[in-house]
Parts: sequence; structure tokens; C-alpha cells
Amino acid sequence: MTPALTAAEIRDVNTRYHDVAANHYDAKWGIDFGDLGSEQVLRKVRKALGDGAPAHYPRALEIGAGTGYFTLNMLRAGLIDEATCSDISPGMLATLKANARGLGLKVKTKAADAEELPFADASYDLVFGHAVLHHIPNLERAFAEFARVLAPGGTIVFAGEPSRYGDKLAGVPKRAAGALAPLWRRAIGARPAPPAEGGAPDAALEGFVDVHAFAPAELSRAARSAGFEDVRVSGEELLANWFGWTNRTLEATADPRDVPWGWRQYAYRGYLLLQGLDRSLLESRLPSAIFYNLMITARTPEG
Ligand SMILES: C[S@@+](CC[C@H](N)C(=O)[O-])C[C@H]1O[C@@H](n2cnc3c(N)ncnc32)[C@H](O)[C@@H]1O
Repeated sequence: MTPALTAAEIRDVNTRYHDVAANHYDAKWGIDFGDLGSEQVLRKVRKALGDGAPAHYPRALEIGAGTGYFTLNMLRAGLIDEATCSDISPGMLATLKANARGLGLKVKTKAADAEELPFADASYDLVFGHAVLHHIPNLERAFAEFARVLAPGGTIVFAGEPSRYGDKLAGVPKRAAGALAPLWRRAIGARPAPPAEGGAPDAALEGFVDVHAFAPAELSRAARSAGFEDVRVSGEELLANWFGWTNRTLEATADPRDVPWGWRQYAYRGYLLLQGLDRSLLESRLPSAIFYNLMITARTPEG
């Protein structure tokens, strides 16, 4: 059983783990800064915000910005004008700066813990993040900080947070794919994965970086306790997620040079297809708690 860590230890492990992960993060997760990446990010943010949200936000702050997946794509799409990217991992921010340079985009970066933001009160119109809340030990403190740095009537959007049931359900395809991996490698003629170049994230730390999987009500409670209004939590990705985790688990066991182009196309196109099915058929009909990803949006009271 994983021993419990203190909040300070969780923050330290997250920093060390993500500093190393930064070297391979974009390749591992297929982070894209082209049209597909922009479309994916925009769709998620617009879906979370709902109808009637502003067309763009002048001053935006990302929490746990990683290598820039959300901020850089949102800047490219014109959804935000000025961006500050914060993250507890300086290594992630170094990769983000290189990505921004490559795309010719201007961003400010600041290494910071979400629970203690080094920014002035009321200095942003939008505070957002993707796949970060589940790493933060004290969510109430973090939401209080988001509320403090937002101007009156400011908005938060967080997406890509694992739901408790969704996470449990996703364990099934992950375990099945792990058991089938040797057969699958034989079928496609792939060798087992070699050790990652440039140092892989410390596998021993992996079990300590994720500290929550949420029930929707827990996320709303954390936002409401910080004074947020119009709190909305929704779920996304069910079939797409099972399919994606199955393929990612299989692929992680193989030498990437041996995974055929046809397989990659099948995995990529299949994921997009199922994402569309989830969106059009399931997300409006099933309870948010069973989807893999939760998203939350809310506003600070008007002044
Ligand atoms: C799963 S990654 C997501 C990165 C990026 N948002 C994306 O979607 O690609 C989680 C990020 O949260 C950061 N993080 C973890 N704990 C944090 C904390 N307490 N405060 C701020 N950032 C944190 C990590 O360093 C990492 O970059």
C-alpha cells in the first residue's frame, strides 16, 4: 500500500517527477500545437464555458500549465490575449518557453504552487487549467487563491480532471491491455520498449503525484467554499477514453520504432471518432460521474 505523504512531500514529488517528465511529455501524450491541438483545446474550453461566454479574455492565468498545451493553443486561437503560465515544475516551464519560442508566441512564466500564487489580487479575467487539480493537496486553498487573483465577475475553467468512477472504469481496459500486450507485440512484430533516453520519470514517484479522483460534488463544493457562483461540473469522454487507454497501454510496452503507421492511424482516428460519439450521444444523457474527465467552470461575484 502507498504510504501517505504530507502536503509538502506531495508538492516536492510533483516538482521532481514533472521536471523529468518534461523531457518526453509532448511525445508521450501526443501534445499538438497545430490545428488539431487548437481545435481540441478550444472545443473543451467552449464546452465547459457553455453558451453565452465571452468571445475572448484579456488577461489569463494558467495553473499547472505544463508544456503549454492549453495556453499556447488558446493564444493561437485568439481566445486569450495575454497569458501567464504558472507551474510548480521549473522543468515543465522550460519546455513551455521553448514551445512558445518555436511558435512565435509571447507568454510570461512563473514557477508557483497553486495554493500560494505570487500574483496580485484581481489581476486576471480567466484562471484555467488542464489535468492539474488532481495533483493539488489542499483544493480549498487553491480555489481561494483562484478567487483572489480573479477580477470581480472573473471566470475559472478546469478540464481533464479524473472522475472517481471514470477512473475505476478505465482500470478495466488498462488491465486487459497490460495482459494482452505480449500477444499484441507479437502480432505487429514489435520489440519490447527500450528504456527512455534522457531519463524516464522516476517510476517510484509515479504513484505519489496523483492525489485525487473526484466525485462531481467535491469539485463544486471546493469552488463554492471559495465564494464562486454559477458553478457547473460536467463530464466528458467515456468510449474514447477506454479506447485511448487500451491503445496507450499497449503502445507503452513496445519499441516506438516498431509500431506500424497503420496502427497509429487506427488509434488516432478511432479516438477522434469515439470522442464524437461520446459528445453527440452520451454526454448529454448519462451522469457526469461515470465519464473519465470532469470539467468545472464558475465565476467570482460581480463587484
Ligand atoms: C498532468 S500535467 C498537465 C500539464 C498541462 N496542463 C497539460 O494539460 O498538458 C500536471 C501539471 O501540474 C503541475 N503541478 C502539480 N502540482 C502542482 C501544484 N501544486 N501547483 C501547480 N502546479 C502543479 C505539474 O508540474 C504538471 O506540469
